[in-house]
Amino acid sequence: MIDAARRSTPLRQSAKPNIMNDQSLPPYAGPSRVFSGVQPSGALHLGNYLGALVKFVALQDQMECLFCVVDLHAITAWQDPALLVAQTREIAAAYVAAGVDPQKAIIFPQSAVREHAELAWILNCVARLGWLDRMTQFKEKTGKHKERASVGLYTYPVLQAADILLYKATHVPVGEDQKQHLELTRDIAAKFNHDFTAPGFFPLTEPLIEGPGARIMSLRDGLAKMSKSDPSDQSRINLTDDADAIAGKIRRAKTDPLPLPETLEELKIRPEADNLVGLFAALAGQSRGQVLQNFGGRGFGEFKPALADLMVACLAPVTQNMRRLIADPGEIDRILVDGADRARAIAAPILAETRKIVGFWPGR
Ligand code: TRP
Repeated sequence: MIDAARRSTPLRQSAKPNIMNDQSLPPYAGPSRVFSGVQPSGALHLGNYLGALVKFVALQDQMECLFCVVDLHAITAWQDPALLVAQTREIAAAYVAAGVDPQKAIIFPQSAVREHAELAWILNCVARLGWLDRMTQFKEKTGKHKERASVGLYTYPVLQAADILLYKATHVPVGEDQKQHLELTRDIAAKFNHDFTAPGFFPLTEPLIEGPGARIMSLRDGLAKMSKSDPSDQSRINLTDDADAIAGKIRRAKTDPLPLPETLEELKIRPEADNLVGLFAALAGQSRGQVLQNFGGRGFGEFKPALADLMVACLAPVTQNMRRLIADPGEIDRILVDGADRARAIAAPILAETRKIVGFWPGR
């Protein structure tokens, strides 16, 4: 029997595995499934491309994949309604332009599958305030002014858990910055399974973080993430930048005065050099070591033009496709309608089962 006191005990009092991860309980035994999402709240950049889109393309041949445009998440901060719908189509266009095949993977807008919001409510009642109070991204985004943030921004990670668990997704490709949200998703899943005595109902989802594009840093500061919220446009390569813009940004990218090192150990302590070498490696499909074999000992005057050429060659077909798709919103909308239908076909029975487990009236 589970008593009320135990039900409301926070999970993470220690880093030790607890009853929620009890190995003696039957684990999740359903199929493997991938879910990920990108917010339609601004232009995509090279970090999104290498850290997310390239991974999505690789995964679509390995498992069933759902790639969502998370517009419910976007409105946790103010979005101009006319821009929101355009940006939603733009993210979908970027998925397709990067090589996600809408026949294989499911591409859809989050708000088109109402079940996300309903499961989020249920999970809001499973997650504890103490868990959300520890979310570093909320603290970073709101700083000293958390009383002015939307309630939605606070509970954002619970909606993210609902996105994932609505499809019983087992694997979630995300950037390093989403690690804590994925841990929360596991805690929520485990607590739900435990509180409702439904062992193995929700999976304990694994993040897929590793990969050459996992840490793409700002071109102006090798210690800060490349980000769409950085006030300097010089800090990032946008997926809409043309060849001249790319070449200019790489030419002006911050570096130190030394030539490129010969070894990985020396590279590690030079964040800007490490970032540019990492970018080259990710775009060329090489390791950092291979890049140093070719460029170790050479100056940035030689390396930067080679990097810019490679970047333009890799991105030009993607940006071209993206422009073509954005010019034909009818095609994107057909993809999104079809994706929403396929997503709902998976989500609806899982939500129906969840409602039954929770004890909602079954009449409708
Ligand atoms: N929070 C994620 C980000 O900012 C976006 C997101 C929302 C997401 N729901 C998700 C990512 C579910 C993976 C799975 O990158």
